[in-house]
Amino acid sequence: MSTLLLGLNIDHVATLRQARGGSQPDPLEAARIAEANGVSGITVHLRKDRRHIQDRDVYGLRKFVRCLNLEMANHPEIVEIALDVRPDEVCMVPENRQELTTEGGLDVAGHRSELARTVERLTAAGIRVSMFIEPDPRQLDASREIGAPVVELHTGAYANAAAEGSVAQLLERIRTAAEYGHSIGLQINAGHGLDRWNLAGILTVPWLHTLNIGHSIIGRAVMIGLGPALEEILAPMGTYGAKA
Ligand code: PXP
Repeated sequence: MSTLLLGLNIDHVATLRQARGGSQPDPLEAARIAEANGVSGITVHLRKDRRHIQDRDVYGLRKFVRCLNLEMANHPEIVEIALDVRPDEVCMVPENRQELTTEGGLDVAGHRSELARTVERLTAAGIRVSMFIEPDPRQLDASREIGAPVVELHTGAYANAAAEGSVAQLLERIRTAAEYGHSIGLQINAGHGLDRWNLAGILTVPWLHTLNIGHSIIGRAVMIGLGPALEEILAPMGTYGAKA
């Protein structure tokens, strides 16, 4: 049985804080509780519009978090911040001002040269770079070609379909992408829209290294507390490898 790691996205703790403009609830406190309860990495998305996570959060987390994963668009201002903060990992994502959350994967194949330059700069700074992509072999090939060692497969379509009960084809697409990505030497992460109901299908996908989950855990934590909400996800994750 292999170990599957959990990265907790704490953006929505900051969303709640920003609703009142004060200091509570504090994303740094959420990160501390998460690390004490079995989370391997803390993920934040520093968006151009700063709608939830602020620059001070990223710098504050960097001081103590064991593995900080910064989600970011390939935007010059944010790239400079990443080079200054030096998170352990960066996940490059597409970003659209109107969206409620990250919609769709990054078109790495269509933006090779701009992305390759950023991957090179971040890698030279000692940051491990991941591409958030659709489970599509073309995007996997492009990610490898521009020098990214990691991809995060977008599970949003699967998660939406799981809610409607029509998942087999979408799960197969993720499985095929994980197999192919692993065969060309990429580390395979996955995330978006995952929760305690649709997790079981994802646990049948081979070669997964890390799952990044945010909204469902933070939403559940409002009801039962962050430690128990994490345990609901970490307990089934502990069986990974038995099914994949
Ligand atoms: N991975 C990436 C790259 C994301 O952009 C997000 C959403 O911020 C997540 C994972 C987590 O998605 P969710 O909040 O739906 O669990």
